Amino acid sequence: MSILYGGDYNPEQWPEDTWQDDWDKLKQAHVNSATINVFSWSLLEPEEGVFNFDKLDKIIALLEKNNIKIVMATSTAALPFWMTKKYPEINRVDDYGRRQIGGKRENACPNSPEFQRLASQLVEKIAQRYSSVKNITHWHISNEYNGYCYCENCTKAFREWLKYQYDNDLDKINQAWGTNVWSHTYHRWDEIVPPMRIGDTYDNGKPVMSGLDMAYRRFQSDSLLNNFKMERNIIRKYDQRPVTTNLMGSQKDLDYFKWAKEMDIASWDNYPSFDTPAGYTAMQHDLMRGVKDQPFMLMEQTPSQQNWQPFNSLKAPNQMRMLSYQAMAHGAKTIQFFQLKQARNGSEKLHSAMISHAESTKTRVFGELKKLGSELNQLPEDLENSRNQSKVGMIFDWNSYWGLEDCMGPTTNLDYVQEVYDYYRAFYNRKVGVDMISKETDLQKYQIVVAPSMYINSPEMTTKIEKFVQNGGIFITDYMSGLADKDDNVYLGGYPGLLKNVLGLKYEETDALPFDQMHDLVSDGKIIGKGGLVCDLIQPQTAESLAHYSDEVFYQKNSVLTKNHFGKGFAYYAGSRLDDQAMDFFMKDILQQAQITPDETKTGVEVVTRTGKTARYTFVINTDSQPRQINNPYPNSKDLLTQTMTTKEIDLKPYDVLILENGL
Ligand code: GLA
Ligand code: ZN
Repeated sequence: MSILYGGDYNPEQWPEDTWQDDWDKLKQAHVNSATINVFSWSLLEPEEGVFNFDKLDKIIALLEKNNIKIVMATSTAALPFWMTKKYPEINRVDDYGRRQIGGKRENACPNSPEFQRLASQLVEKIAQRYSSVKNITHWHISNEYNGYCYCENCTKAFREWLKYQYDNDLDKINQAWGTNVWSHTYHRWDEIVPPMRIGDTYDNGKPVMSGLDMAYRRFQSDSLLNNFKMERNIIRKYDQRPVTTNLMGSQKDLDYFKWAKEMDIASWDNYPSFDTPAGYTAMQHDLMRGVKDQPFMLMEQTPSQQNWQPFNSLKAPNQMRMLSYQAMAHGAKTIQFFQLKQARNGSEKLHSAMISHAESTKTRVFGELKKLGSELNQLPEDLENSRNQSKVGMIFDWNSYWGLEDCMGPTTNLDYVQEVYDYYRAFYNRKVGVDMISKETDLQKYQIVVAPSMYINSPEMTTKIEKFVQNGGIFITDYMSGLADKDDNVYLGGYPGLLKNVLGLKYEETDALPFDQMHDLVSDGKIIGKGGLVCDLIQPQTAESLAHYSDEVFYQKNSVLTKNHFGKGFAYYAGSRLDDQAMDFFMKDILQQAQITPDETKTGVEVVTRTGKTARYTFVINTDSQPRQINNPYPNSKDLLTQTMTTKEIDLKPYDVLILENGL
């Protein structure tokens, strides 16, 4: 198999006479690729306009000699000190108005003309010089784009962006953002300033004028995306090989669905911490597959320990292997690490790597990497571009993420990713595969569409959902959904606005519960679980009530769970955050209605199938440290990892993985 197996390689941190030894070691682990030139700007351009590619030429020659594939980065993520000193405008300003003085990384102002000029110039030289290097498989732009800037250049660019978005009409902005509240009415364009903590944002990060806040988030995400496109377009002039940048799962700053349209392939960095549930990691992979609806690159993970979490636990024996195959099960087509050789200095010196400080190939971790490398080598080519097919589409929407979490009220405890994960986990635990989708996705290809806390809604989206349900689809949503338009104006006439029709309900009030409080939920006189966080006081219209609150609260008669027959389909609604028991009750009805038979046996084991051109590959993964036995979903199929035939039952050791191959 041609799967890339390798990772970030920073030989510029080491004497040249040690380089070949790295590869003598790494090749024992079947490493076939290296991501290079991620942070080398200050070596490549030691002073403005003076370029020196000697070292990079040597690194490339080393990799070519060793027959190693190259993921070629552009080095624009970390700025040389000469630059931050000479052009202070390149340093970002934070939302307290403080300008940085240089250092760290991923912190250039995206709207600085000087940054754009200097980055373009560097990338032009790199693309020109190296586009003829045969071993390059991908271009990797910058690194983990993130964060916002609030400087004067951004402010000016923001006004231009707004002019474009709002037809050059200040009145439209006044209307859209409701600026007459608290005397925020704009009379001139230059009165518009970013939402900052020294301005219109509270110290807890919540905005006064949420329309402005939402717009600024969209603008900053677009600004960084423009930086990406700028570099990509330069590379394109010289080279047609795929271009990517490493994403970070469900991070908040950037709208990745928008970004992915500009990327040839999605890639991402997976760093679960010691207590991250396997289902949460699975959701992140599904999201990273979902942004392009295509297999993705696992650009980084760590062989064992990280260094930047509060507790950086070791990966237990076989855990790194398990996490690698889990990524693959959900759509990864590369297995790459940070990094190939552990640093001696700097903040990442205690971050694990393939070659550790022990400099030995006899270490536990190296042994595991070696085993994984040789297994990957033997996997069929067909697996690499095989596809995950799911009956459930789950909407992830960055605008709702921003609107929901930046909203003042009803509780400060709203956590968009957690709300999405509540529903993801409900399917994951029942071994029902999920696609993470955007609002633009064609819903008709799914049997069930879930839109957890889809705070932002539009007439178009409403029509789309109504059509989907009318045609027989099952739609599920919950509290805080559909409340506002893209500028965060509430839809009037009762909540949840435009969704009232398809859901067959309305509500006028939502209670918020303190952290540890939950209310009993009742159906047919029996307690079916608890609801917390918020409680919508639902009045079903055409919907059937599946459960209501208990007599602990004055709104005991109001519904909490409903189901509406709409056209040929059904729309479900949950007015509170459900505990596991209440979720069980809810899911039972939903899955029965969808005629999906869940597999609730053996939590801790994932069963995920990818379909290729010649076969189907079912990953059976024991995600934790308990041994388990499960019924084989495909008895008599071959396990590709051990090349043996399987029987009726599968014994799984801690973190064990099988890949069962089946005909189409
Ligand atoms: C990120 C970066 C890498 C490295 C790792 C460490 O993913 O992209 O350069 O710092 O974190 O975990
Ligand atoms: Zn800026």
